[in-house]
Amino acid sequence: MDAVETILGRLTLEQKASLTSGGDFWHTQAVPEAGVPSVMVTDGPHGLRKQSDAGDAMGLGGSDPATCFPPAVTLGSTWDVGLARRVGEAIGAEALAAHVAVVLGPGVNIKRSPLCGRNFEYFSEDPLLSGRLGAAWVAGVQSRGVGTSLKHYAANNQETDRLRVSADVDERTLREVYLPAFEHIVRQEQPTTVMCAYNKLNGTHASEHHWLLTQVLRQEWGFAGMVVSDWGAVSNRVAALAAGLDLEMPPSGTDQQVVDAVHSGDLREEVLDEAVRRVLTLVAREQSLPEERPAVDPDAHHALAREVAAAGAVLLRNEAGLLPLDPDGTEALAVIGELARTPRYQGAGSSQVVPTRLDAALDAVRALAGDERVHFAPGYTLDGPADATLVDEAVETAREASTVVLFLGLPSSAESEGFDRQDIALPAGQLALLRAVRAVNERVVVVLANGGLVSVSGWEDQAEAVLEGWLGGQAGGSATADLLFGRANPSGRLTETIPLRLEDTPSWLFFPGGEQHVRYGEGIYVGYRYHHTLGDPVAHPFGFGLSYTTFDLADLVVHRTGPNAAEVSVTVTNTGPVAGSEVVQVYVHDRAASVDRPEHELKGFAKVPLEPGASGTARIPLAPEAFRFWSPGRGRWVVEAGEVEVRVGTSSADIHLVEVLDLEGDGVLPELAASSTLDEWFAHPVGGPVLRQALAEGGGRDLGEVDAHERAILGAMPLGKLSAFGLGVPRAAVDALVEQVRAER
Ligand code: BGC
Repeated sequence: MDAVETILGRLTLEQKASLTSGGDFWHTQAVPEAGVPSVMVTDGPHGLRKQSDAGDAMGLGGSDPATCFPPAVTLGSTWDVGLARRVGEAIGAEALAAHVAVVLGPGVNIKRSPLCGRNFEYFSEDPLLSGRLGAAWVAGVQSRGVGTSLKHYAANNQETDRLRVSADVDERTLREVYLPAFEHIVRQEQPTTVMCAYNKLNGTHASEHHWLLTQVLRQEWGFAGMVVSDWGAVSNRVAALAAGLDLEMPPSGTDQQVVDAVHSGDLREEVLDEAVRRVLTLVAREQSLPEERPAVDPDAHHALAREVAAAGAVLLRNEAGLLPLDPDGTEALAVIGELARTPRYQGAGSSQVVPTRLDAALDAVRALAGDERVHFAPGYTLDGPADATLVDEAVETAREASTVVLFLGLPSSAESEGFDRQDIALPAGQLALLRAVRAVNERVVVVLANGGLVSVSGWEDQAEAVLEGWLGGQAGGSATADLLFGRANPSGRLTETIPLRLEDTPSWLFFPGGEQHVRYGEGIYVGYRYHHTLGDPVAHPFGFGLSYTTFDLADLVVHRTGPNAAEVSVTVTNTGPVAGSEVVQVYVHDRAASVDRPEHELKGFAKVPLEPGASGTARIPLAPEAFRFWSPGRGRWVVEAGEVEVRVGTSSADIHLVEVLDLEGDGVLPELAASSTLDEWFAHPVGGPVLRQALAEGGGRDLGEVDAHERAILGAMPLGKLSAFGLGVPRAAVDALVEQVRAER
């Protein structure tokens, strides 16, 4: 392919317009006369969904077999950026071999509500964790020469009415919660493409949102790649191009609108050229790769999928060390639950992969423990009504066994792209089965399979152990057996809070909105940011997960590396009997912020693998970004001077060590005006002394004469208004003070 600028120069207006829309469902437009081939893009994100035949966006049709890695819910729960990168590399290698130019992922939308039907495809309720894992995945895919598509930009946090709904979000909330994962990945890894969301943001389609697509994405963050629409997200081609969207997918047959708009002057041709340039750059990137592609090793990728599934499972409960089970024991094991035989291993919708093979937990348990020891009963059907015969059979199987491993979870009809869930409960029939089994056998291990979280309230104490396996991908069954028998040690940690009740979740009052609007009324208080600020109890906190071993955290040192930066170091020791990994989590609490802030926020983490008895040092840098908040008044990030607590722990609720760090602040002061209140003037490091001096020099009744009650009232009044009440400094003098403050800062 010739150089991009050479090709651009030879394209007609019509050809240029055609290049900003797809050629078909999965391909960019080719213009053979001008020497432009087409390239293929494919879902994503947890494996390739390459549809060699007809395409569809909802995973309804088939696709070529590919390794089905665990989806983001499970990969996220590993808290392991190295592993996320290796998964990216493997998916990149499969895409390269399949001649796919771009894998449509990762999805880094925030889990705002546990009801979002697509939560299985997203990493976390926390933006830092989502950003770090997403960045590692992007780096992995792109290291193979394959492109990525960071999606869904932005504020696509529900499926209800997703093509029309306006997410109404204030700017501070956007900047602090919904944009940082995108920002981090763009700045850190330059993903090849960014995919705009279906929804509107504050009334404007994401596909037509100039602030989102151009001002923030390109001008602030320096994104240099191509913006592609989500499939069918464009409603006005011309408005989308003008806003900064480069490629519409799939094609809508509206190229003439673009041509007309250029003729009429509604769209500047340079804007179109810029979009074409970006599409051509993407095509050229793929064309520069060698035609001969390295073959992939499906066994190695299956093994990696197994490693991820094991590393992402979260051990929620393990009374009296019931787990791990002894693989060499002789006592009978009851394996109960259809999900043991028929795994639920990925979510439904556009991300659905046809796996290269599929491990069922039942087979894997039999392989490890021996056929004769394992007695299976399905107990329930996945989508049918409760069946008394199946329950009776399961109870009899449980009665005969020394230990019961009961597989519970959501059927695939319960959660999917395209609709949201109604509740977070396990199916009632499954819970009734748990009670019936428990009545005859006290040693019950529950293994869960679900993409969005499920409530554990009301039943968790019926189980001696609970292993949350999420959706394990094609090797999830083997990984479960590895964990049950101690071949792998659980090291997954929750990336979302498990609430006591659905009604306790912060978005509960507002989700999913109505009349085509959803108001993000909980603001920045998403997930643990809300629960800890309120001091509310939860079932299991963000960051939580048990292990077969124990860890000790000690020797916290917060070493200052700049006026507003530090490095945290902490010694982790494996104090238990087996090898395992601890996730050291660093939260920052702002002691005296001038604005409301969450109790604390995750600002760094490290996963530390340790042999029994061994110690290691986790070093976690805290850049100035760790301390900042978005000031809507100033329209920028601010780091205030003052003390913050650096809290180090093993979940958002288990803080082991705390050190105080005194920040210098970034010197960004609020503007003072005549309309600033007396309190604001006094609190201002420059304005306070200036005002005090002016008051001391006389002018109006001395504020020192007022009592505390009056002072509280006056504090909230603009300085410029006080003189009318015979207080403060005269109105004319206020303007001079404002000038003086401006000059002195
Ligand atoms: C989904 C995207 C996906 C696209 C292509 C859309 O419906 O929202 O995540 O990449 O379809 O299948």
